[in-house]
Amino acid sequence: MVDKDEIITLITGANRGMGFETAKELGQSGQLVIIGSRNIEKGKEAVKKLTQQNIKADYVELDVTNTKSVSKAQKEIEKKYGRLNILINNAGAVFSGRQLASNLNFDDLRSDMELNYFGLIDVTQRMLPLLKKSEWAKIINISSMMGSKTAALDPNSEVYRAVAVGYQSAKAAANMYTVQLAKELRAEDQAITVNAIDPGMVATEFGGATPEQAASMGAKPIEFGVARTVELATDYNDRSNGTFTNTHGVVGW
Ligand SMILES: NC(=O)c1ccc[n+]([C@@H]2O[C@H](COP(=O)([O-])OP(=O)(O)OC[C@H]3O[C@@H](n4cnc5c(N)ncnc54)[C@H](OP(=O)(O)O)[C@@H]3O)[C@@H](O)[C@H]2O)c1
Repeated sequence: MVDKDEIITLITGANRGMGFETAKELGQSGQLVIIGSRNIEKGKEAVKKLTQQNIKADYVELDVTNTKSVSKAQKEIEKKYGRLNILINNAGAVFSGRQLASNLNFDDLRSDMELNYFGLIDVTQRMLPLLKKSEWAKIINISSMMGSKTAALDPNSEVYRAVAVGYQSAKAAANMYTVQLAKELRAEDQAITVNAIDPGMVATEFGGATPEQAASMGAKPIEFGVARTVELATDYNDRSNGTFTNTHGVVGW
């Protein structure tokens, strides 16, 4: 068990990309960060890099699409820490890129849903009892402008021409889950908020490109991508609930 004032944060898919950067910045702010990674070696390597920077970091094996892995991770965190303050559902990937709505490959579509929607819900439901054990808690779902129906219908939006129907549907579904869970917890008077974030187009290995390739296509630096998440996760007075935001403000659902 740790000090009652320690802020304990679990981030899924935190071995690289925005998950890792978020862990680094939240760790630098003083939070104890638990790196969720489906690969043990990559997870331990990430923790090593963080602890070398004097960040309090731990690792938990966590494949969000494997319910046994999610359950095992929950038990490990419960045994070691007894509670959580912040859950950041960050793990994500696109499987059905560029497939038209009239011709989706079902295996890809299911993979999009398994990771970006069912996995997010499984992790959230399992971790909820640990979040309820803290005086206050936040659930932050890393969504995307790609999941915004408002943006998809707006010819002036940067994602108007983007087609990744399975991924977009999964993020849109995760947005609805965000809203419904936020309302449910508010109705119960729980001190837990639930919000969705759009990081913007960010130069990571997302989608199979290198960060350099993504940057050459206009993707923003990784620090920009995590800025709104870090802001929300470190503003302890912010009780926003059921919102969808990015660094510019409110994002249309
Ligand atoms: N990059 C963008 O432009 C962009 C824009 C909008 C939203 N987003 C969202 O931002 C989040 C982070 O993306 P990123 O750009 O940082 O991508 P990334 O660099 O590709 O990192 C994705 C992370 O998710 C992990 N992951 C994949 N499948 C997993 C599973 N089954 N269980 C647990 N972890 C799993 C990966 O682990 P492995 O190393 O094991 O593969 C990796 O740590 C995602 O939710 C993405 O949809 C990204």
